[in-house]
Amino acid sequence: MSGRALVTGGAGFIGSHVSDLLLANGFEVTIIDNLVSGNRDQVPRTATFHEMAITDERASRLVQESAFDVICHLAAQIDVRKSVADPAYDSRVNIGGTLNLLEAVRQSGKRSTRFVFSSTGGAVYGDLVAPPTSEEAPKDPQSPYGTAKLSVEYYMGYYARVHGLETVALRYSNVYGPRQDPHGEAGVVAIFCNRLLDGTPLTIFGDGKQTRDYVYVGDVARANLLAATRPLPAIGALDARAFNVGTSVETDVVELARVLREIAGAHVEAKHAPERPGEQKRSAVDVRKAQRVLGWQPKMSLRDGLTETYRYFAARRAEART
Ligand SMILES: NC(=O)c1ccc[n+]([C@@H]2O[C@H](COP(=O)([O-])OP(=O)(O)OC[C@H]3O[C@@H](n4cnc5c(N)ncnc54)[C@H](O)[C@@H]3O)[C@@H](O)[C@H]2O)c1
Repeated sequence: MSGRALVTGGAGFIGSHVSDLLLANGFEVTIIDNLVSGNRDQVPRTATFHEMAITDERASRLVQESAFDVICHLAAQIDVRKSVADPAYDSRVNIGGTLNLLEAVRQSGKRSTRFVFSSTGGAVYGDLVAPPTSEEAPKDPQSPYGTAKLSVEYYMGYYARVHGLETVALRYSNVYGPRQDPHGEAGVVAIFCNRLLDGTPLTIFGDGKQTRDYVYVGDVARANLLAATRPLPAIGALDARAFNVGTSVETDVVELARVLREIAGAHVEAKHAPERPGEQKRSAVDVRKAQRVLGWQPKMSLRDGLTETYRYFAARRAEART
């Protein structure tokens, strides 16, 4: 494979893995990231890096002038609680920034640019149907973050139908793995790994029976590569070019804590805290469509993925000490 790829958010958790995989598959990779939550050290050395915001006029110019074959768009305001506190900021980045890029692709005249958008399976479906949720399930985002991600999917439908752009949405479940920011909101695995290394109690909200679908970041990177390179289904309604990316397996927080404790060999206690208001009870996505159409399926088992992740955080601690 070869071609020119742009990865937005390539200094972040998932984006840096996507960049590594594209480079390993022969792509020339350019990254834009404003480092608001990303880390310059995670940018692969062989990628071209521009520190800039996706909302910036310079990002638009870069896209118009570079004739990228692929754009993997991961840069985003990713914090659901921040989206609740400041929906306008969330929409400026997550809707406005994405429109800046889509418009730039349209203006570049290169309609064949494959635009792969990182959407969310955790925040667009809501609690309406029992998991695992298929792409066609009713949408019911409960937060400005989920609403913005879904809005972008509708905009992409417009750009595909009216301007012939090659857009595709990947709806991730809960992604975990090396490089996840333990200080963020999303990363319970990263938070637990660091607590285990510190020897401080793991906090479990409510009864800990709330379930999530944990997918390994390497599998998510591979979904991006396939979505960037495989033929897409015909343009249709909202879900025609949307793919869930997860494992279809529900794991509750108590079980997650148990497996991680076992991996760490640590006897750290779990502390229960009051349930968080509005927290979804169950979540997992049906991934049969990605398998059928893109030839993608998750390869990493939860135990192996958690082991890799724990080892990564342990190694970082050891490095920091030397
Ligand atoms: N982590 C998950 O479980 C999960 C689940 C569903 C969807 N997603 C989506 O995947 C994508 C990547 O998330 P992540 O977990 O790697 O988060 P992350 O915070 O590690 O990565 C996001 C990157 O975008 C950059 N960024 C933020 N705002 C920007 C802006 N205005 N201009 C340029 N760069 C900007 C950040 O600096 C960061 O490097 C996001 O679009 C997120 O919504 C993540």
